[in-house]
This record gives sequence, structure tokens and C-alpha cells, in this order.
Amino acid sequence: MTTKTRIWLAGITLTAIFALLQASADSYAQGGDELPAVVKKIAAALKKGDADAAKKLTTATAKNVKLIDEISDLMHMYRPVDKGGLGIESSLKKATAKNAEDLANLVRAMADLSIAKGWADPKGKRTKKAWNDLNDEMRTAADGLAKAKNDKAAAAAAAKVTNTCNRCHTLFKD
Ligand code: HEC
Repeated sequence: MTTKTRIWLAGITLTAIFALLQASADSYAQGGDELPAVVKKIAAALKKGDADAAKKLTTATAKNVKLIDEISDLMHMYRPVDKGGLGIESSLKKATAKNAEDLANLVRAMADLSIAKGWADPKGKRTKKAWNDLNDEMRTAADGLAKAKNDKAAAAAAAKVTNTCNRCHTLFKD
């Protein structure tokens, strides 16, 4: 090995070590959690009735651009688990009395995050108020889902949630 190669290799090794250190510093700054884990934590706090903890975590998460840079980062949580989401969209299609409460809390967490993040780019009918109102409606629909006593009621309540998703997409999604 020539001296030049050795120096070059040492340089590469150092760069790699620094990259690793930086990555772990970044994940430390986020408390080590990726967005799906954070949404679950907020949902768990809501389930426990710990509104304060839920609110604090929601506000901090909405401000953390490493977790939610754009609305699409948040919306990605609706996607399947194997696509990096929480599978909320498909769970809503097969809601049962058994999963209703947990699903409702995930939707509530998403609505709260969505309001905390806010709509940054008002234009025409895409107002900040419309954004907040649609999220409020989705949260209210989730309250109905949480109360579902049987599978039929759960399916009907979940369909109401999905209806608010679609209404928001009609207005806000390109
Ligand atoms: C308050 C408005 C609003 C509500 C409510 C809403 N969405 Fe969205 N959604 C959007 C917008 C805006 C986008 C487009 C984001 C982008 O690509 O910039 C989007 C995108 C998506 C995407 C594509 C995500 C990706 O990976 O690019 C999915 C899936 C989705 N939404 C599912 C849902 C589901 C399921 C619900 C209801 C449980 C829901 N959304 C509720 C506004 C909303």
C-alpha cells in the first residue's frame, strides 16, 4: 500500500465515522423516534387521557422539520406499514369494534398534528381555516369511531372518517 493510498483510506474511514456520529446525533435530537413511532406515542397518550403530554409531543413534532418537513411527510403515515406508514387508510376499511378505539386515537393524533403543522400556503379556497375545519371534522368523526360498540357501528364510523379524508383531498390535494 502506498502512503498516498493509506492517507486516502484514513480519510474515508474518518468521513464514515463522522457520518455515523452525525446520524446518531440527529436521531438523538428526535428522541430516536421516527415519525410512525411518534404518532403512536401521541395516540397512546390520548388513549390514556393524558391530553397534556399528547399536546406537548404534538407541538414539538409539528415543529421538527426532520420529522415533518411537508404535509406529505405526515400524510405518508396513512400508507401501509411496509411502505413506512401506519396502515391507517387500510385499517379504516376493515374497522371492527375491537380495533376501533386504537384506530380512532391514531386518527386523532394525525388530526392534531395536521392542525399543529398548519396549512402554510393559503390560496383561493385552500385557506388555513378550511384546513383546520376539515381536520376538526375528521377528529369528531374519530370520536364516533372510538365509541363504536359493534363491528357494524365501527364500519359506519370509519366510513365517516374516510369521507373527511376524501373531502380534504378534493380541496387540498393537487
Ligand atoms: C386537512 C386535509 C387532509 C385530511 C383531513 C386528510 N388528508 Fe391526506 N392528504 C392531504 C394533502 C394536502 C395531501 C397531498 C400532500 C402532498 O403530496 O403534498 C394528502 C395526501 C395523502 C396521501 C398520499 C401520501 C403520500 O405518501 O404521498 C395519502 C395516502 C392520504 N393523504 C391519506 C389520507 C387519509 C387516509 C386520510 C383520512 C384518515 C387523510 N389523508 C386525511 C390532505 C388531507
